[in-house]
Amino acid sequence: MKKLDVIVLGATGAAGQNVVESLQNHPWFNLVALGASSRSAGKTYQEAIAGAVFFDKTPAEDVLKMKVLDINKIDPEDYGVAFSALPSDVAKIIEGKYAKKIPVFSTASAYRYEKDVPILIPDVNPSHAKIVKKQQENRGWEGFICPGPNCTTVGLVTSLKPIIDNFGIRSLHMVSSQSLSGAGEKGLRSDSEYRKSVEMNVLPYIEGEEEKVVEETQKILGKYQKNNINPLNIKIGVTCTRVYVNRVHLESVFLETKKENDISEVKKIMNNYISEPQKLQLPSAPEKPIILFEDNLLPQPKLHYKYGGQVTLVGRLRKDPVFKNGLSYVVTSDNLDKGAGGGIVLSAEFLKKKRYF
Ligand SMILES: NC(=O)c1ccc[n+]([C@@H]2O[C@H](COP(=O)([O-])OP(=O)(O)OC[C@H]3O[C@@H](n4cnc5c(N)ncnc54)[C@H](OP(=O)(O)O)[C@@H]3O)[C@@H](O)[C@H]2O)c1
Repeated sequence: MKKLDVIVLGATGAAGQNVVESLQNHPWFNLVALGASSRSAGKTYQEAIAGAVFFDKTPAEDVLKMKVLDINKIDPEDYGVAFSALPSDVAKIIEGKYAKKIPVFSTASAYRYEKDVPILIPDVNPSHAKIVKKQQENRGWEGFICPGPNCTTVGLVTSLKPIIDNFGIRSLHMVSSQSLSGAGEKGLRSDSEYRKSVEMNVLPYIEGEEEKVVEETQKILGKYQKNNINPLNIKIGVTCTRVYVNRVHLESVFLETKKENDISEVKKIMNNYISEPQKLQLPSAPEKPIILFEDNLLPQPKLHYKYGGQVTLVGRLRKDPVFKNGLSYVVTSDNLDKGAGGGIVLSAEFLKKKRYF
């Protein structure tokens, strides 16, 4: 198969760096261009990311030497696919312009809540991909926009999917401990006031985050029926906090299932959960979407990297005494990989394999 030439928009930011990392040596996509603001344009990638580098592995020499382009001066038709990791307000304009011509896979929230746009996690709601056909018809676009979820939603819904499929869910609470890189560059730069405010501390509020997690969870776990995504109708309570951890979000989940549950059965269905990326053997798919731990000290954000950026780690799974059919557990998810770059690259692999482009 001939590789498709692709561009990364917002390549210099925290999420963008992870997209770049996920595309290096990719068997289907050929990373040929990096775009960012006029502040970075003309610099080499290495110069542009200096001071806020957030790679797991150092990028290849040829990537570091690539000149960053100004996203406002690019012709989308020069590329086969765009991966966007732009701030939402910028994404609203730029992604719409690109999607007229080519597929756009995005980490931004700009289009997530529109009716003909999926919030795709191929491990969780692969059937929602179909809505991009309606999007193309509605808008007369040759391409489409396919966003991933918020980095806090992704671990939550992935861990919920086998539970909801087998027992149903009546109500749900989640308290997050979110890492600094979830706030992008301002969370990473050592001289940033925001980062300093979290140092040896916990911030009890992240503006806009709780609403996003609720709406996205309902949409992602909703059913695709008659060309529409019908959101799941359950009550969800969320508290999002920022902690002094560089990378990987931890979430404490409390829920009530509709059917009576048996804890060993829940463990079994979580352990055995397999989805489309595994069945299709997509290049970025982990062996299993979820890894379950019995050790009470796992999972931990600091140790998450050992298991890979695309997996959702679950531990401390136990009965919750507050609800009738109560369960509680802790989940970790890599906000920059599964929650951003790696996640949208997996979506692109899924739609490519399914011949959407
Ligand atoms: N961080 C996460 O964990 C995470 C997870 C999921 C989704 N997201 C979403 O991903 C997007 C990027 O987040 P981030 O955390 O990576 O932010 P970030 O670190 O602040 O990076 C923003 C990127 O956008 C570029 N940019 C900013 N303003 C621009 C403009 N006016 N014109 C062109 N380019 C512009 C920046 O380029 P310059 O370097 O040139 O300024 C940079 O490449 C956001 O929509 C965010 O909500 C983030």
